[in-house]
Amino acid sequence: MTASRSAQWYRGTDRNAYIHRAWMRRGLPSDAFDGRPHIAIANTASDLTPCNMHLNEVAEHVKHGVWEAGGVPLNLPVVSLGETNVRPTAMLWRNMAAMAIEEMLRANPIDGVVLLGGCDKTIPALLMAASSVDLPAVVVPGGPMLTGTFRGAPLGCGTDVWKLSEEVRAGTLSEADFLRSESSMIRSKGHCNTMGTASTMGLLAEVLGMTLPGLAGTPAPDSRLLEGAHETGRLIVSMIADGRRPSDVMTRGSFLNAIVALAALGGSTNAVVHLLAIAGRLGVELTQDDFDRTGSGVPLLVDLQPAGRHLMEDLYRAGGLHAVLNEVRDLLDPAAITVTGRPLVETLGEATVHDRDVIRSRSQPLQQDAGIAVLYGNLAPDGAVIKPAAASPHLLRHRGPAVVFDSIEDLHARIDDLDVTPDTVLVLRGCGPKGYPGMPEVSNMPLPPKLLAQGVRDMVRICDGRMSGTAYGTVVLHVAPEAAAGGPLGLVRTGDTIILDVPARRLELDVPAEELAAREPSPEMTAAFARPSRGWQRLYVETVQQANTGADLDFLTGSSGGHVARESH
Ligand code: FES
Repeated sequence: MTASRSAQWYRGTDRNAYIHRAWMRRGLPSDAFDGRPHIAIANTASDLTPCNMHLNEVAEHVKHGVWEAGGVPLNLPVVSLGETNVRPTAMLWRNMAAMAIEEMLRANPIDGVVLLGGCDKTIPALLMAASSVDLPAVVVPGGPMLTGTFRGAPLGCGTDVWKLSEEVRAGTLSEADFLRSESSMIRSKGHCNTMGTASTMGLLAEVLGMTLPGLAGTPAPDSRLLEGAHETGRLIVSMIADGRRPSDVMTRGSFLNAIVALAALGGSTNAVVHLLAIAGRLGVELTQDDFDRTGSGVPLLVDLQPAGRHLMEDLYRAGGLHAVLNEVRDLLDPAAITVTGRPLVETLGEATVHDRDVIRSRSQPLQQDAGIAVLYGNLAPDGAVIKPAAASPHLLRHRGPAVVFDSIEDLHARIDDLDVTPDTVLVLRGCGPKGYPGMPEVSNMPLPPKLLAQGVRDMVRICDGRMSGTAYGTVVLHVAPEAAAGGPLGLVRTGDTIILDVPARRLELDVPAEELAAREPSPEMTAAFARPSRGWQRLYVETVQQANTGADLDFLTGSSGGHVARESH
């Protein structure tokens, strides 16, 4: 029988085993190196990732469970990404975090890993890394914060910032009142409490099978999170004994389950790029079209911001993820297993809905056919996505003249003085993975004040970037190829007619093919693209793939396993 990974470092009487053991002793029990599984706790706690600040406490409870089950827990701080802090956009660093975490999991003497994440990019990066190393792994999602209130009404993180700032621009809210709401926005530890990217990816980690059943969505301050962390510590030790790895758990069936859940939850469009990237690490066949094929006919059942009214604390109280999944149980792959070895559908038990205001029934959904729609046409040959649940129904079929911005700076410089009508289509380019670089969340462009003053609250917007999971509007995003990669988005001119037809899945530029073929990208647009000369950003721009395959680096897709052939001394 092959020795465990940790035993390959620690077992034996030679000089190297001596060195590995001696430096690690520092209070570990004397039998720590006698074959007990060594468990890394990949911990994204950081004072600069406010949504993850509490994860050190969670790690302590994971440790209790690991010790109790006979393992040796080891805290492994890893690259963390605070969505609200990191410039130019946290997405630029997702792949860097995933690469660094992957390499540290492989390089260290561990047999399994517990992944602690929360803020938007942290769970995707952890899952990408764990998939490429393919050691037994389980996620503890850090959980959402409690609901804050302002003037007696709940505040939704992100979503209400967008709403309130639009009100200020429209002149219906004073700047002083806007600033007064700031200290009420973040009520407790935890990540954003809307159905944004963090909530979506925490819940989808469970649907993928990668958490202790029933844990995802537990609010960060709830004592049941720590209880679940303790149990997760026990679970990872048993997973090593069973040899259960991410590649056993996250199969195509698990990803299709995640797509069904994404639609029923009204989850973030960012889940598209993250799930594609994780699947790419595992070699699971998954395409952007799977989101439309499998998810677009699924009804939206969860009435949470940004598509609805409530917040994550309400979802947990109303029955949580399991109650939602039981509503769509017949659409789930019954063979897809979880980290426990049991099928996901078996873990759901009889979980029921306690509040139909928050979790609707299939017969009375918040919206029919709510999943991600994937659009194609001469403006997006490799596809673009839209979330109909967050869009205005009257704009889903639309024809209008384009106003084009060559960069986000161009948009900010001109948006307040634009000559536009409600039919205008705002086009923003230079915001894809290569162009910005890093594919920022800027696609939900602010509306021109002239239209806000008329009461207009939504317009068709098209961009090669992403949109915050907490945002809303008729926004076509992830246009591929992006303008900086030579996509036709770079050929649009102000005044061109754009045709959006979501029911027909079309996104067209109404310009004759010969004329389009003769056009050159504008020099202003080309000049606006960043061309980093060194470091991570250079590597990123040279090797990042397009949104329709998950925006991973081309050499990071796939797996290298966990084996390391050479010693360190
Ligand atoms: Fe961290 Fe929203 S800013 S989850």
